[in-house]
Amino acid sequence: MNTRTLRLTPDAKGLARAAELLTQSALVSFPTETVYGLGADARDGTAVARIYEAKGRPSFNPLIVHIADVSQALDYVRWNNLASKLADAFWPGPLTLVLPLKQDHGLSSLVTAGLDTVALRVPAHPTARSLLKAFGGPVAAPSANPSGKISPTSADHVVAGLEGRIEAVVDDGPCSVGVESTIIGISGAATAVLLRSGGVPREAIESVLGSPLSDPQSAAVTAPGQLASHYAPGASVRLNASQALNDEVMLGFGAVPCDLNLSPDADLQEAAAHLFEYLHRLDALGRPIAVSPVPDHGLGSAINDRLRRAAAPR
Ligand code: TXA
Ligand code: MG
Repeated sequence: MNTRTLRLTPDAKGLARAAELLTQSALVSFPTETVYGLGADARDGTAVARIYEAKGRPSFNPLIVHIADVSQALDYVRWNNLASKLADAFWPGPLTLVLPLKQDHGLSSLVTAGLDTVALRVPAHPTARSLLKAFGGPVAAPSANPSGKISPTSADHVVAGLEGRIEAVVDDGPCSVGVESTIIGISGAATAVLLRSGGVPREAIESVLGSPLSDPQSAAVTAPGQLASHYAPGASVRLNASQALNDEVMLGFGAVPCDLNLSPDADLQEAAAHLFEYLHRLDALGRPIAVSPVPDHGLGSAINDRLRRAAAPR
C-alpha cells in the first residue's frame, strides 16, 4: 500500500471519520494514555492482517484488543473474580488482562495468533474512549511503530515510522503515561502472572490483590512478543552509565550532567512520560547512547525493562 497518512483532529468530526475508516478495513492510529496504538477492527481478518504487514510484525505475536468497558469484555472472554478485582481497580487505565477466550467470540484468529486466550484493555485516554464509543466494536491495536523500534508517544512519531503504510492518525498530542500497559495473565481463578511490566506498577497491583504476582514459568508463557531486542534505536545503548564516553550522548536521570534528562528531580512518572520521546530524539543524532541508572521500583521497573530491550544485542 502507498497512501498518504491522514492527520485527523480529536474532535467529533475527526473521530467520526476515524470510526468510519475502521469499518472499511483501514488502519487508524490513535492516542492512548500509554503510547499511540495502531487500530483495526478486531473482527476483521483483512484489517488485522494489514496491522502485521504495516508494522513488519511476526504473526506469532498476538495483539491487544481495546474495548470501551467491562461489559464488552464479557462478549469475548470467560470472566472471573480475579479479573473483576483488577478491572474494578485499574480500568479504564494502563492495564491489560489476558483471559481465556469464549466460544463464538467473533474475533479474528490473527488477533490472538491462534492462542486460546486474548489480551483486553480499557484505555483511559478520553480520545481513545470516544473513538471506541463512536466505532462501537473491539479495536485491535499494538503500539503504532515498526516492529522492534522505539514506541510512539506522539502523532509525529507515528507518521515518522509508518507514513504511507496506514490510512490515518488521530493527533492529540503527547501521551501522559509514556510506557505501555502492564500485562497480567489470568489463567485460572487463582493465579495472576505478570507478563509485562508497564504503566500500573507491580506494587499497586499486589496491594489490590493482597498477594504477590507470579512470574512467568517459562519464556514461552511470557507475552510471546517479548523479544529480547525491542524498542531499539539505530545506535547502541549502554546502561547504568555514570557519564558519557567518547562519542556518546547521555540520557540522564536525577542530578547528573547529560544531554537530555528523563527527570532532573528523579521522578519516575515524569521519566516514564519522557522515555520514548527522548530515545527518539537521541536516536536522530545517530550517536551511541549512554543511560543513567534508574531505580527498579514502581514505574522504574517498566522503564528498566524497556531500556534493557533497547540495549540488547540485535
Ligand atoms: O499500552 C499498551 O498496551 C499499548 C497501547 C496501544 O494499548 N499496546 C501495546 O501493544 O503495547 P503491543 O502489541 O506493542 O504489545 C502487546 C503485547 C505483546 O507483547 C503480546 O505478545 C502480548 O501483548 N499479548 C497479546 N495477546 C496475548 C496473549 N493472548 N497472551 C499473552 N500475551 C499476549
Ligand atoms: Mg509494541
